Amino acid sequence: MGTVLCGGTIVNADSVTVEDLRISGESIAAIGKNLVKPGDQQIDVSGCFLFPGGIDPHTHFDLDVGSTTTADDFASGSLAAILGGTTTVLDYATQSRGGSLADALATWHAKAAGKSYVDFGFHLALCDCTPQALAELAAVAERDGVVSVKLYMAYKDVMQVGDADLLRVMQICRDQGMLVCLHCENGELIADLVLDAKAAGRLEPAQHAVTRPEVVEAEAVARAVAIAELSGCPIYIVHVSSARALSLIRQAQRQGLPVAAETCPQYLLLDASRYDTKDFSAAKYVMSPPLRDKRNQDPLWQGLQDGAIVCVGSDHCSFNFVGQKEIGKNDFSRIPNGIPGVENRFGLLYSFGVATGKISLSQFVACISTGPAKQFGLYPRKGVLAVGSDADIVVWDPGQSCLITAAAQAQRVDYNAYEGIEQQGRVREVFLRGLHAVQAGRIAAGPTGCYLARKKRQQREDAVCTNSR
Ligand code: URP
Ligand code: ZN
Ligand code: ZN
Repeated sequence: MGTVLCGGTIVNADSVTVEDLRISGESIAAIGKNLVKPGDQQIDVSGCFLFPGGIDPHTHFDLDVGSTTTADDFASGSLAAILGGTTTVLDYATQSRGGSLADALATWHAKAAGKSYVDFGFHLALCDCTPQALAELAAVAERDGVVSVKLYMAYKDVMQVGDADLLRVMQICRDQGMLVCLHCENGELIADLVLDAKAAGRLEPAQHAVTRPEVVEAEAVARAVAIAELSGCPIYIVHVSSARALSLIRQAQRQGLPVAAETCPQYLLLDASRYDTKDFSAAKYVMSPPLRDKRNQDPLWQGLQDGAIVCVGSDHCSFNFVGQKEIGKNDFSRIPNGIPGVENRFGLLYSFGVATGKISLSQFVACISTGPAKQFGLYPRKGVLAVGSDADIVVWDPGQSCLITAAAQAQRVDYNAYEGIEQQGRVREVFLRGLHAVQAGRIAAGPTGCYLARKKRQQREDAVCTNSR
């Protein structure tokens, strides 16, 4: 017995067609006309778009940042994800200093086990490049199916790694067919600028942005590209926030270097004027890189239009304003960095990208689902509506709209960075591997998300799904 979605517009990164789609078990069984078999359930989705489930390539659930732990764990974060149209997340399993990579992954599996409403995989965030950790990288790819590693060029004395370690890790990842994700900001310069601000008695949240200007992002991007060129390793620059950083990425791409880029809704839609308040509320927008001058937004949209930017991630890293952001009440450098957004990434990109005419339906699917699937070894199992692919499907009603508010969100955090914004279009139904998980906009299934072991670059065709480890 299957389910046939009838009369919808099926959108892929390379096609838009009006056809029916039949789900059988966990996969898409057929796309075309006259698909109904005896016993099938039929759902009329005429007037709606059918998108491949969103893939958020950048989340931080249940992350301990030393002074506190993110407000969302895998249960609340993944529930928010699926209600917002995202059916897969790639979360950053973060190594503790001196800790092994195996321990980091075991910890993240324990955080996610039995709790996730969406399928999930892990990147490894490598903070301490000990010989033991470097020796583990091959096993992490082979045994655990973790084929992407994040390195931080910022957060001095906490997660920052130096140039020699960047080179070493890239050399290993090149040989292993792994992708290196990079947080590009110059942590040395930031640390110094923070000292200057404090010495001048400037401790308010707006100083977060003052001490992390565009040039520190650009410098780190240029250095990352140089080290990628030296090593021959493909890199993926996360949360690109400025036109200046993007133009360096474009230059590298024109040279034929394998440099991919991600941006986030916050850099496309919000700007540095959020820091212009006398009170502490600007702390809600303390993230790294910080929000930029508005003039950066058009170039970032342009990057999505022409493919210089291949993915939009949420960088969901939520902290309550009360009690968590307030840790930095008297010192901006202690404000936990990050904003919530996993629930809103999909809808914001549709609303401010597609509905405004900035990007096409197919460009939307490319950056919200297909791009992440291809970058991170999930394609064609995920990221496309095609026969044989997982039936991860979002039925999107473009005729509806909704107001984004903290009061209405599933994210377990006390504010929403997009409060009061009207979203055009909204999620009607979501299928996760054939399971009708969201019905008429409401959650209708338990946390059945499974772990996605991914394949190295040279082995890619499909990814392996395992509920057990
Ligand atoms: O401020 C941010 N982006 N926090 C999350 C960690 C990171 O750098 O991605
Ligand atoms: Zn980062
Ligand atoms: Zn992040």
